[in-house]
Amino acid sequence: MKNTKILAHMPNTIIIEMSTDETILALYGRDVEEMCLNKEYDKKTLSTLFNQQTYNEIKYFFETDENSLVIQWNQKYYDLTYKRLEEEKIILLYLFDVTRYNQIEEKLQSSLSELLSKKEELQTVFDLAANGISILDRNGMFLYANKFFQNMMEYTMEELTRESCISLSSPEYAQPSKTAVQKAIEYGSIEKFQKVCITKSGIPLNASMSLAYLASRDEIIMITSDITEDIKYQDKLKKQVAIEVAKRTEQHEVMCHQSRLAAMGEMIDSIAHQWRQPLNSLGIIIQGLRHISKQNEIDIDFLKEIESEIMEKIHYMSQTIDDFSMFFRISKEKENFNILESIKDAIRLIDVQLKNHNITLKINMTDNLNLMVLGFANEFRQVILNMIHNAMMAIVSIKEKDGKIDILIKQNRKNLQIEIIDNGGGISKENMPKIFDPYFTTKDKGSGIGLYMSKVIIENHMNGLLAVKNKKDGAQFTIMLQQEQ
Ligand SMILES: Nc1ncnc2c1ncn2[C@@H]1O[C@H](COP(=O)(O)OP(=O)(O)O)[C@@H](O)[C@H]1O
Ligand SMILES: [Mg+2]
Repeated sequence: MKNTKILAHMPNTIIIEMSTDETILALYGRDVEEMCLNKEYDKKTLSTLFNQQTYNEIKYFFETDENSLVIQWNQKYYDLTYKRLEEEKIILLYLFDVTRYNQIEEKLQSSLSELLSKKEELQTVFDLAANGISILDRNGMFLYANKFFQNMMEYTMEELTRESCISLSSPEYAQPSKTAVQKAIEYGSIEKFQKVCITKSGIPLNASMSLAYLASRDEIIMITSDITEDIKYQDKLKKQVAIEVAKRTEQHEVMCHQSRLAAMGEMIDSIAHQWRQPLNSLGIIIQGLRHISKQNEIDIDFLKEIESEIMEKIHYMSQTIDDFSMFFRISKEKENFNILESIKDAIRLIDVQLKNHNITLKINMTDNLNLMVLGFANEFRQVILNMIHNAMMAIVSIKEKDGKIDILIKQNRKNLQIEIIDNGGGISKENMPKIFDPYFTTKDKGSGIGLYMSKVIIENHMNGLLAVKNKKDGAQFTIMLQQEQ
């Protein structure tokens, strides 16, 4: 062959020159030098140059009309073509080194199959997802939607390609949906955009959407959750809460009423005591009058004296009734009132009973106290009365001969602190956590509503605090009231 020098440097190609009887005449190409093939081909034939399988492949290739054949030779891959030079009885085999291409192709193949399996995986995730996942173009037109989204909106994928996220919105949400798409493109994403969609059969559906813009593809991925049930549930909850609140308010009113009734019951007892003495006196006077009437001459001065005494008793009795009736009036608005006056008002209602049980009540307070408080005076009086009544009953129940109730009023920074201390034996450890519970009572005819209501009045209506603890030989109730609110 001519130009053998040039051929000897030819890269990536080997040319095999052989006679028609398959005796190898020469090998050309850079690889021949590098791989030292030169020495080997001497006296070799085609069948000895290649292994049996490759040789068979080449022979078969000669008989077909295929353009090329890829063979493996010396750890490399070659693309084989040939040319017969009939006149010279020579066959030229051209072997192009395609090892690198092969490697690349192999890699490509494996990446491709990996990609395909990833795609399959993603597809499954998309289709199994319990959310609508769709891909939109920059105008909001559907490019893809998972099964969930198709089922949710009742459209097939084919039908969806003719729709956009705007056309599936209810009319009032068409514009906001358009804006949402634009915002997603502008800011990269938007989250939990709530709107109403209309399904193919016309059913409105509350949806929450999150959109993310995929800049490299100029597409938008949209996740849609159906929140119709959530919203229904929230509405239901809201209604339930409203009903509960109404019930509670009603219950609260019932309790206020009960507490007033209970206090009234305790009061009737008091009135009976308050009136017993003046009624007795009146009885005696009337008996005296009968005695006088039997006399011939009536002493006018004496009669006048009797009249004023009767009037005094009647006045006292009507005063007690006034006190009680005032007591049961409900304060409608907060007012500034003097707590010492209120405490004294309450004491006046129960004074006679305390004396009957030989209980001494004392009020102690520090000098220069500001006794004014903003709140409900009547309710506050009711609290104090209940506390004193409870203390009295505790003293009576342990048959304490020398009953004592001390009321201490102190200033504690900007708060007024009122302590009501008795020597009625205190509250058992077991009952302590329960005494503010509604209807908790240890008395035969108790209502158990007094302390519950006292707590509601002091803490909820007057922003104060009501606490209890045992002290020496009795209980101590402490009321704290804010003076500047
Ligand atoms: N000063 C006190 N000493 C001992 N126990 C008390 C005192 N005050 C309240 N209690 C206990 O708390 C319970 C609840 O009081 P209250 O709510 O006023 O209801 P009631 O007076 O109708 O029983 C009383 O039954 C009593 O057991
Ligand atoms: Mg009570």
